[in-house]
Amino acid sequence: MGFIDYEVEGFVGIITINRPKALNALNDEVLGELEQTFDAVDLGAVRCLILTGAGDKSFVAGADIGAMSTMSKAEGTAFGKKGNDIFLKIEKFPIPVIAAINGFCLGGGCEISMSCDIRICSDNAVFGQPEVGLGITPGFGGTQRLARLVGAGMAKQLIYTAKNIKADEAYRIGLVNAVYTQEELMPAAKKMAAAIAGNAPIAVRACKKAINEGLQVSIDEGAAIEEELFGSCFESYDQREGMANFLRKKDDPKKVPE
Ligand code: CAA
Repeated sequence: MGFIDYEVEGFVGIITINRPKALNALNDEVLGELEQTFDAVDLGAVRCLILTGAGDKSFVAGADIGAMSTMSKAEGTAFGKKGNDIFLKIEKFPIPVIAAINGFCLGGGCEISMSCDIRICSDNAVFGQPEVGLGITPGFGGTQRLARLVGAGMAKQLIYTAKNIKADEAYRIGLVNAVYTQEELMPAAKKMAAAIAGNAPIAVRACKKAINEGLQVSIDEGAAIEEELFGSCFESYDQREGMANFLRKKDDPKKVPE
């Protein structure tokens, strides 16, 4: 593919948006290739994904401003729908996706990171929703996911002022889980992905579904979703083996407590 690289290391797939000349900005082609890449992930072999940007300057600097500059209302609506559909696909993707944010994470870049399960970043990362400065709203989910992640008051401040924030502020408001040096970022993402991939895959998938679906409904409905998914894990090989292993270790007199 021209703009997306995909490689698999063990149980972990690494998707890299590779358009460094435009700071990995998202145009129709990049979005299309991204969707094809997600569609092609072998869910029988891959248990966790990392999404990152090529180069050391930018994760994704937003949707392509040049491409949007001449769009009609209908084209703008269709472009927003294309981005939203793909980002919803990422949000609902059966396995976890970690965004490894290695620089500018603006507009559509911030929005794609928010469709991932977990965000970690490098210390040169810059976050923001600059859209109102360009005469538009965030269009790939920013008005919806930012408020859910950092609260309505902070989301409104960031979106209305169009002011960018640095990595430490993104960490303080809970937009990212951790900040690393540029060199440490990918090793940290791979370590986290390997830890996730080392756990029971059916259970991890069920956790993602339970958290995501539960956040959309009342606590009672959420509890019912959890019950269903909790029950679905039983009789699986991982459940039987995982629990039997624990019980075997408990009965082993040679076991050294950790
Ligand atoms: N779209 C298209 N091209 C972009 C781009 C974008 N979002 N961001 C950067 N580029 C291009 C620049 O045009 C430039 O290309 P040329 O070399 O051909 O001129 C190249 O990437 C390098 O960019 P700069 O020279 O501007 O680099 P810089 O270091 O001086 O500045 C920056 C970096 C602060 C990120 C600046 O590029 C910038 O402000 N980019 C736009 C960020 C933005 O507003 N993003 C939101 C877009 S709207 C959106 O995303 C809508 C939505 O919700 C769907």
